[in-house]
Amino acid sequence: MSPQSKSKSSSKGKKEVTFIDLLKQDHDKVRDLLEQIEEDEEGENRRELFAGLQSEVQEHMELEEKFFYPALEQNEESSDKALESYEEHHVAKMVLGEFSGVDIEDDRWMAKFKVFQEIVSHHLQEEEKNIFKLVKNVLEPDRIKEITDQIRQMKSETEKKAA
Ligand SMILES: [Fe+2]
Ligand SMILES: [Fe+2]
Repeated sequence: MSPQSKSKSSSKGKKEVTFIDLLKQDHDKVRDLLEQIEEDEEGENRRELFAGLQSEVQEHMELEEKFFYPALEQNEESSDKALESYEEHHVAKMVLGEFSGVDIEDDRWMAKFKVFQEIVSHHLQEEEKNIFKLVKNVLEPDRIKEITDQIRQMKSETEKKAA
């Protein structure tokens, strides 16, 4: 009879993890990949890094558009921000779609990448500085928990598919 259900790490005093934390972790991953591509001047790992960036960005946008932005849209205080965010995703997706038409070794590829980097960095900052902070004002704790569960579940499904 082992007490398997007992968690080893105490959660005393710890703030509960919400979907905002999960989205911020994604943002850090995206920033890290953008930086790695920028620093890979010879372009040795460019293809691989960019493939990783692309799927990371696409999955993240999908999560937000499916579970997060609709909740923001329903509230008057945050609906404008939600609409603006959809538009920023749209621009990012458009630019992302153009990479396939440019040779990865062409100088234009890096020029396009720089623009993509600016668009994405701006959007991540906008979310972290202005949008995530609205969440506590506009969403009930239960709703936050619900979105957290949905995002967790979709993340684990994506992980399973990738494995
Ligand atoms: Fe976003
Ligand atoms: Fe985001």
